Amino acid sequence: QNMEVIMRKHIKNNVSWVGKIDWELQEFHGSDYTINNGSSQNAYLIEEEKTVLIDTVWKPHSSEFIDNLESEIDLNTIDFIVCNHGEVDHSGSLPALMEKIPNTPIYCTENAVKSLVGQYHHPEWNFKTVKTGDSVDIGNGKSLVFVEMRMLHWPDSMATYMTGDNILFSNDAFGQHFAVEELWADKADQCRLWEEALKYYANILNPFSQLVKAKVEEIQKLNLPIDIIATSHGAIWRENPMQIVEKYYEWSQAYQEDQITIVYDTMWDGTKKLAHKIAEEIAKQSPDTRVKIFNISKTNKNDIMTEVFKSKAIAVGSPTVGNSVLSSVAGWLDFLRELKFKNKKAAVFGTYGWSGESTKVLREELTKYGFSVVEPEIKCNWNPEESDFNKAEALVSALLV
Ligand code: FEO
Repeated sequence: QNMEVIMRKHIKNNVSWVGKIDWELQEFHGSDYTINNGSSQNAYLIEEEKTVLIDTVWKPHSSEFIDNLESEIDLNTIDFIVCNHGEVDHSGSLPALMEKIPNTPIYCTENAVKSLVGQYHHPEWNFKTVKTGDSVDIGNGKSLVFVEMRMLHWPDSMATYMTGDNILFSNDAFGQHFAVEELWADKADQCRLWEEALKYYANILNPFSQLVKAKVEEIQKLNLPIDIIATSHGAIWRENPMQIVEKYYEWSQAYQEDQITIVYDTMWDGTKKLAHKIAEEIAKQSPDTRVKIFNISKTNKNDIMTEVFKSKAIAVGSPTVGNSVLSSVAGWLDFLRELKFKNKKAAVFGTYGWSGESTKVLREELTKYGFSVVEPEIKCNWNPEESDFNKAEALVSALLV
């Protein structure tokens, strides 16, 4: 038996958690999402008259996952598998599992069939495609009802609702990349829990905010009793589980706090000095506004985006290099584009020695990405002097209007 064997954790009645808590995971989506506090892939086992497995875990943990399941049940007793989402962190153990129980039905959306076949090349698997409202009887008066969650966050995503026990298996939605050994949100470090939930929303779900809003309204209209929201990452919600749904609703509507985030990179500290002058000026003109300053090359990009998400305005600075901005800033701007922030102001600043295009490039890019860029800017030749620093006053006033 594997020393790392997970064992089941009890969720409610005949429902158990059988996933993997990975305290050592450091990144996700390749290296695009940095993980600071571990994460988990939550899979669930339902043992009513029917035995059902909801999702699996990532491939590196597949033998551990299957060993664990086999220590709990005879795999042949699994009546069917629900695959809420085809991404590898939840489907990665399917190939090894299906070798052991090859004809077991897999309930998933039509799009999930595309993604699973595309990734694992097993068109012969026994797929049962489902749509919103379809349900399967699992005995003891309980059933599973499927709800498509298209683009939350993939076209194949869905959630599964278990009647009787009132559990919503929400997959990625409402989750966090956060290792919580006790599983429950109410047991978790609250500060980190909300930080991680917000980071997950800002960096993964924000581009789909309009769909999040519509989906939350749809869920609320169904008026389903929800006792537990069993996510596929991080903590599971049982105390007032709708609190995370309400937060998503709030976050989905161009969320902002009284915060301004200043983001820059610098070659010889000229642009850095301007960044700090702008921060000082915000504190002077609006002492209640929270100000944060990040050098793009020295702070994790996901953490910066979480701060941008919370901000009502940003100021972005770069010196001119090669008739444009620094490559670090250009890469960061492209990530900013992906996240589709709404209803935020922006200001631009930067130093130059010769041609001086950086502020023009920043203005054009930020405008394209939906920011309303204020007119006053600081474009400074060589090192800033008093007349350059003085321009911060007008720039900040415009941001605060
Ligand atoms: Fe979209 Fe947790 O995978």
